[in-house]
Amino acid sequence: MRILGIETSCDETSVAIVEDGRQILVNHIASQVRLHARFGGVVPELASRAHMRQLPAMIEATLGDAGMTLHEVDAIAVTQGPGLVGALLVGVETAKSLAFSLGKPLIPVQHIAGHLYAPFLVGDSGTYRLIVLEAEDEDHGPSMPKSDAGEEPPLTFPFIGLVVSGGHTTLVRVASPTRFEILGETVDDAAGEAFDKVAKLLELGFPGGPVVDKLAREGDAKRFDFPRPMLRSGDFDFSFSGLKTAVAQVVHELGFDRLREDRGLVADLCASFQEAVVEVLLKKAGMALNAFGCRELAIVGGVACNRRLREAPREYLPGIRVVFPPPILCTDNAAMIAGLAWHYRDAFAKADLALNAQADLPLA
Ligand code: KG4
Ligand code: ZN
Repeated sequence: MRILGIETSCDETSVAIVEDGRQILVNHIASQVRLHARFGGVVPELASRAHMRQLPAMIEATLGDAGMTLHEVDAIAVTQGPGLVGALLVGVETAKSLAFSLGKPLIPVQHIAGHLYAPFLVGDSGTYRLIVLEAEDEDHGPSMPKSDAGEEPPLTFPFIGLVVSGGHTTLVRVASPTRFEILGETVDDAAGEAFDKVAKLLELGFPGGPVVDKLAREGDAKRFDFPRPMLRSGDFDFSFSGLKTAVAQVVHELGFDRLREDRGLVADLCASFQEAVVEVLLKKAGMALNAFGCRELAIVGGVACNRRLREAPREYLPGIRVVFPPPILCTDNAAMIAGLAWHYRDAFAKADLALNAQADLPLA
């Protein structure tokens, strides 16, 4: 069964075709990041317009690369929420029109559930294209796992999922691809948001995660002793706004002139901040693993691209199997939507024209 997925919840327009829930045939991603960079954050109106501009051509290109026609697609899947409502609407209305005109099932998918499903996808490298709007192509990161490497599922249910993105920091007990129990969430900023805000403080541009990650590699993570918020809160919630304020205080004390002159100092700040985030994320995930007797952890979402986060489980979570999707599947993509949609196949329904985008669609 081949499902065409559409993802437009934030600033990536993506269209994918996934076979039987696992095998990525094509996964096109057009990142708008350069479009929003000059504004220091995602501008919702610009995002919606860019989705409208990109989406029809991307659907055509995806079908072309898969060597398929629309009529050969078995169902249409789309991200219903959460996300920016204007951006979501572009995907939802397009998916509705396609499904209705083709007489095919329409499957709405929750975006966070999609992220949690990303570790289950396989496909040969080169089956995706990353187009960065208004700029040159970027590094795709490590390639996709090969399809023949994926006969065994990478994780056994139930496992603990840690969703870390620009909008979410959530610890989840994942009982099946479609059943979740939320254990804890951020009470203020998301982890990715904290990276973005700290990068802004340090005048490093947007989005901040990748720049902080890169600079941190040259820095000394022990130079500044930043707080580890909520480590002893006794629950599975997170808070990152105090950490951001702690960085702001140090920036204020040092002064911008000194920071602009001394890149080593900025690198130390990045490394120290990043280590605080990574330590809190992994130690809290460790507490959830202990509490629920799980030995497997999946870390997903944009922040899961972070190099320090990807290597630190060896120190912070010895004995735990930690699975990260390849970076191209950590950030927003339609393959995770088309893949997860397959698990709803028993409840497939013909296009429901009442389907609406929902900015705050809950996971559980
Ligand atoms: O999952 P995603 O693409 O979009 C949302 O659904 O939010 O995540 C984007 C977030 C941004 O905040 C970005 O700064 C962060 O992921 N991010 C990173 C890295 N790459 C992206 N954060 C830390 N280190 C990275 N290497
Ligand atoms: Zn996302």
